Order: sequence, then structure tokens, then C-alpha cells
Amino acid sequence: MSVRAIITIIITSLSVTSGFTSNSCNFNAKLKQTLLNEGFHRNITYGIVFESDNDGDRWLYEDCTVSLEQVLPSGVFVNPDELGEFQRTHKLNAIPRGRVNIELPASQSRPSVVYLMGTVVQSKVTLWLPVHARYHHAVSGGGNARNWIEPPRLFLRCTDRRLELCNRKLTTSSFLCNGSSKEKCSWMKVPFIALTNTLIWDVPVGNTNHYYLVALGTTLVIVVGSLHLMSTIHEYKVRARRKLT
Ligand SMILES: *[C@@H]1O[C@H](CO)[C@@H](O)[C@H](O)[C@H]1NC(C)=O
Repeated sequence: MSVRAIITIIITSLSVTSGFTSNSCNFNAKLKQTLLNEGFHRNITYGIVFESDNDGDRWLYEDCTVSLEQVLPSGVFVNPDELGEFQRTHKLNAIPRGRVNIELPASQSRPSVVYLMGTVVQSKVTLWLPVHARYHHAVSGGGNARNWIEPPRLFLRCTDRRLELCNRKLTTSSFLCNGSSKEKCSWMKVPFIALTNTLIWDVPVGNTNHYYLVALGTTLVIVVGSLHLMSTIHEYKVRARRKLT
């Protein structure tokens, strides 16, 4: 047997052995994002599915926690009080990063980040997030202000150490473990295929031209109305005087 053949055999057996002890962790995650309802108060829903190449790999993510890191543009916000209420009533686990000022108009706001968490059950997670549009100052011509809601980043965390078996170089990020404590955890970033496009939300903007038109119209109505009232009173008085004489 040649030296080359021996080396080939050694390399092959090494890679087979490592294949048994580690996992490529290709979860083939897919994400579908939709924007429900109409108007200034809407509902973003997320459907996440893990479809690992190998059915035997399901245990790698089943029962683990998924977290979505969603960036919201300056024209959109979540209401922390409302999220707290939904946490009590609907077990919704959504936590804004940092403080949210719900009063500010879009022009004075910055993009914000919200974390959404849920458990993988039968390779699936469904999440939703109530969102609101910020007020936009009226502009000449009016029209719409367009908000783009980009796909979130997807993270995974398991309470045990099973993800350490992944032989792929993993990117991790540290942020809240869940919505009920300030404790931080290490999360594994999971690449996914977005099945939907960036969400687009057009918010109507007041028209300052209309404002002047409305103001002018109101003034005209008041002036004409007052004149009419004054002339009626005048006529009434004249008639009353005639009756007296
Ligand atoms: C948002 O949509 C989800 C999925 O349809 C639903 O379960 C949830 O109740 C909705 N939330 C609100 C606030 O409408």
C-alpha cells in the first residue's frame, strides 16, 4: 500500500469520526413576516419554521427559545404598557430595548429595537407584535410617509448546552434572557431565508395647503354668518321701531 493511500484512509476515517461527534447545525430556518390590520395601529406577525436537512437533528432546536431582534423605523413604535398588558393576558413576550417615548412625532424619533421571544414547538414558532405609527407633521401637498420594516435577526438559545455540538463557527450576541428579568444570556444567531419582502407601511400625512384652505373657509363662514345675523337683527329692530311709530 502506498503512503498516499494510507494518508487518504486516515483523513477519511478522521472526518467520519468527527461527523459522529459534531453537527453542522444547518437548521434551514424560514421566516414569514406580515403586517395585519389597517390604519395607525397594526399587528406584525412572524412565522418561523426550522427544516433541518436531517430529521434526526430536530432535537437540536426543539423546546429551545427563539428571539427576534426587530428594528423599528422612527415612524413606528411599540407601547411598553400595552406589551406589559399583553404579557399578562396573552403570554406575549416582547421587550423594547431601552426607553420608548410614545408621544414623540416621527421627526423627533429614532429607530428603536424590540425583542420578541417564543418557544420552538414541533419545529415552529409563531409570534406577533402590536405596533403603532407615529404622528407626522403636516407638509405642503400632504401624501404619505413610508415606513420600511426590515426583517428581524433570528437568535436561538437552549437551556442546556446542546448547541455547543455545532461545528459551524457560530455568531453569538448577548441580551435579555426573557421578559421577566434583567438577566442577560448568550444567544446564537441563526441565518434564515425570508419568505416575504420588507414590510411597507404608508402613513397618511396632513396637508398644510388644506390647512390654509380650511382656515380660509372657516373665516369666510364666520364672516358671512355674522353679517347675516347682524342684518337680521337690524331688520328686526327696524321693523320693531316701525310698529311703535
Ligand atoms: C395579532 O395577530 C395574531 C395572529 O393572527 C393574533 O393571535 C393576535 O391576537 C393579534 N393581536 C392583536 C392585538 O390584534
